Amino acid sequence: MSAGAVGRAYPRLEGPAKVTGTARYAVEYPVDGVSYGWAVPSTVVRGRITRIDTTEALASPGVLAVVHHGNAPRMAPGPQPELRLLQEPTVHYRGQYVAVVVATSLEAAREGARLVRIDYDTGPHSTVLTDDHPGLYKPDQVNPSYPTDTAEGDFDAGYAAAPVRVDVTYRTPAYHNNPMEPHATTAQWHDGRLLVHDSTQGATPVRATLAELFELPPESIRVVAQHVGGGFGSKGYAKASVVLAALAARHVDRPVKLALTRQQLFGPVGYRTPTIQRVRLAADTDGQLTAICHDAISQTSTVREFAEQTAVYTRSMYAAPHRRTTHRVARLDVPTPFWMRAPGECPGAYALESALDELAIAVGIDPVELRIRNDTAVDPDQGRPFTSRNLVACLREGAERFGWAGRDPSPRSVRDGRWLIGTGVAGSSYPARSRPSSATATARPDGSFLVQINATDIGTGARTAMWQVAADALGVPPERVEIRIGDSELPTAALAGGSMGTASWSWAVMRAAQALREKLRDGVPRTGEVTGEADTTEEVGGQPALPRYAYGAQFVEVRVDADTGEVRLNRMLGVFAAGRVVNPTTARSQLIGGMTMGLSMALHEEGLLDERYGDWVNHDLATYHITGCADVESIEAYWLDERDDELNPAGVKGIGEIGIVGAAAAVANAVHHATGVRIRELPIRLDKLIGVSDLA
Ligand code: MOS
Repeated sequence: MSAGAVGRAYPRLEGPAKVTGTARYAVEYPVDGVSYGWAVPSTVVRGRITRIDTTEALASPGVLAVVHHGNAPRMAPGPQPELRLLQEPTVHYRGQYVAVVVATSLEAAREGARLVRIDYDTGPHSTVLTDDHPGLYKPDQVNPSYPTDTAEGDFDAGYAAAPVRVDVTYRTPAYHNNPMEPHATTAQWHDGRLLVHDSTQGATPVRATLAELFELPPESIRVVAQHVGGGFGSKGYAKASVVLAALAARHVDRPVKLALTRQQLFGPVGYRTPTIQRVRLAADTDGQLTAICHDAISQTSTVREFAEQTAVYTRSMYAAPHRRTTHRVARLDVPTPFWMRAPGECPGAYALESALDELAIAVGIDPVELRIRNDTAVDPDQGRPFTSRNLVACLREGAERFGWAGRDPSPRSVRDGRWLIGTGVAGSSYPARSRPSSATATARPDGSFLVQINATDIGTGARTAMWQVAADALGVPPERVEIRIGDSELPTAALAGGSMGTASWSWAVMRAAQALREKLRDGVPRTGEVTGEADTTEEVGGQPALPRYAYGAQFVEVRVDADTGEVRLNRMLGVFAAGRVVNPTTARSQLIGGMTMGLSMALHEEGLLDERYGDWVNHDLATYHITGCADVESIEAYWLDERDDELNPAGVKGIGEIGIVGAAAAVANAVHHATGVRIRELPIRLDKLIGVSDLA
């Protein structure tokens, strides 16, 4: 009956179109009479535009208009004030888009942008996060809606009474999402209706935001996102490119293509906030945790509060009778931070999983064993059992595959010529969520089926995964199924974010397929269309939802040059328990991608902000270093065959983000094991380890 497509390693359906160049991205659609927009960023941090002189720009060949706060179409206030661009002369951060030049060619628009003269009144600014920043405050909640602080037991007393304690502070810098395809949009107005081709993780939320900003019914807006070159959170909601393109197209009454440059991405489309995290752990002499405290500091902007859930990971990962977590945030004169792969869990796990390594050394037990001893079947935060928790199984299988047994725990115990060799481990987890989605399934007279859902494939293989799910749900070979995604005209669905795309969309696709099969059985003509509406999974069987997480274990071996401090990755190995895996090829790619980003975070990535100018000085891929192929000698990702019936009909937990969680800590722990030096401020650059032979 079932073709059994789920679980099989199909190549991406759109692979041939992508490699032959026929797959179209947001600004690649041919459009008659199209013009080009070029965004003009502010050159001051904080202030007010006093004069915009567009004379020279407008006289430049091909320039059609300079759109700015003095002439731009008006937009309504909305929940995302950072998107109300070109509405007022106020500048809140350096790089804020203050004008768009529209011209008949991209080059003319760029030249026009160079010729716009803007005068500003400026004031003092504060752009650097410190642990004693006077602006630190306690937000009402942290993202997406977690309590700001939590406390169980009596942390101070528990901590003071414990025989073994660590009290350590970790720092992470700003990280910048750098999808291969920068944020880009083609916007066209026809008779009051707006059509946009946008590079986004979710056409439905973009349509909703545009509807609010332009005060239009959502039905008069269509958002198409057929192919998207990565997002990593930064394209989770509508961003500047789509707003500026829509404003500009309305102003000049012509279609506009607007693509942000690589340099223009650094900040204004979002980034991961820097963090300062103090972690205190206390344990018995056998390594049983008795007290855990995680105090996280991060930044937001003056435009909108974005309070990252940095310490939330610590609430549910390991048990202890005395626990406390806090978040404090400072409003700085910076762009608003936004989601970046595993927002919160990723930096939080770096701190907690590093501190656990320090505790393992203080107690004198193996760091894998320490984590196993502190496993818990009950969520310490919720007081309820997890639907499934296979952290220990991941640690055991990872240790086996990696060859952990027999490891000498002493730092600097393994040396190969000038290289100091070290190994490290970290745990990983990420919530398994889903969101309401809907889909349609249609039977065609020729025996084929059409399944439609506004899912988004941001390069992950989502299109292929949904095709597999649909085939099995319809009980036919996948070759008989056509899948359509990436268009707000299709049934409304969750965005590709929060690792919940596959879980949410599968639910809807399976419902639609089931409804269609029932109709066909009842003798309804095969051309009939059937709609299946999927529910949220927040309540299962009328009972309060149980805590649901995916888990993983990250193992790393590094070598460190004893003289130069250069850190190289020998190998990285992850084992994950993430529910059912729909497509092993694309799943493996997701996990390896996440682990690579974790490696990048540990060793390379760092947004360096110059306080004088309030801007990141390394704002391109030549100066903002990321892990390249030559940095990755071996990364392997495995997963357990995990079944969890409490999730969703597909049994899917989501794999988009768990690969990055814990990865940086595993690298940092390996560096410590290799060198005996604990670097608590990422990235672990060679200048922090140079002459490590003498440092230990
Ligand atoms: Mo992910 S950072 O939720 O797109």
